[in-house]
Amino acid sequence: MADTKTGETTAKHYLELSGVASFYGKIQALNGISLFVDQGEIVTLIGSNGAGKSTTLKSISGLVTPKTGSIHFEGKEITQNPAHINAALGIAQVPEGRRIFPRLTVRENLRIGAFLEKNKKVITERMERVFSFFPRLKERLDQQGGTMSGGEQQMLAMGRALMMKPKLLMLDEPSMGLAPIIVEQIFDIIQQMNQEGMTILLVEQNAFQALQIANRGYVIQTGDIVLEGPCQDLLSNQQVRSAYLA
Ligand SMILES: Nc1ncnc2c1ncn2[C@@H]1O[C@H](COP(=O)(O)OP(=O)(O)OP(=O)(O)O)[C@@H](O)[C@H]1O
Ligand SMILES: [Mg+2]
Repeated sequence: MADTKTGETTAKHYLELSGVASFYGKIQALNGISLFVDQGEIVTLIGSNGAGKSTTLKSISGLVTPKTGSIHFEGKEITQNPAHINAALGIAQVPEGRRIFPRLTVRENLRIGAFLEKNKKVITERMERVFSFFPRLKERLDQQGGTMSGGEQQMLAMGRALMMKPKLLMLDEPSMGLAPIIVEQIFDIIQQMNQEGMTILLVEQNAFQALQIANRGYVIQTGDIVLEGPCQDLLSNQQVRSAYLA
């Protein structure tokens, strides 16, 4: 939010996007979106193919630099920060399609997540925490990432992000391509992580499931936020029901 008297930007929320416009060359993907996430919340961003969900997450993590607008995290402006700076500030993104390293083992994939941490004891503690959420990963430490099932690869991608000990975890379509029972497990774990204090921004095309576990939601359509509110309201909204819950 811009302060008209001083010209300085201020932010009231843990994560706050104000009028963010992002481009790929000449293609405008975000038309000036505003949204916020408070500490301890699960917020979901839903929308169909090409709406701008991934671009929103990339703009926050620093993989895409917004052309206009501002992004604040914990009161600090991070709009122009490169991704490695935002990672160090505690923003982790689990990318669409997992993007684990297929030829590296589960252990190696997890260690890459802790690349900023040099202390071996701390790394071991973080791994134990990852195993508390995903016991399967502990059983498969020496397996190559690429030979894991889709659900296991999603767990590995989430585990890798947890190895950063993030403050804000952003998940880009974690349910994509997974069987309903696995989706349920993944969503249960997202809720557990949240109960342990992690703030979560969840991007989903699977609107029904996402609205079940989140506190608040935003609907994005061709680069604009068109609806927002508590998830109960969105679940009963006629527009949402016909477009995303059919
Ligand atoms: N690297 C890129 N170069 C050019 N255009 C891009 C690039 N990435 C995304 N876009 C365009 O930006 C718009 C938003 O894409 P984005 O990936 O953010 O959508 P999305 O909501 O994540 O879609 P999906 O559900 O399919 O993942 C789309 O029109 C897309 O074609
Ligand atoms: Mg996407």
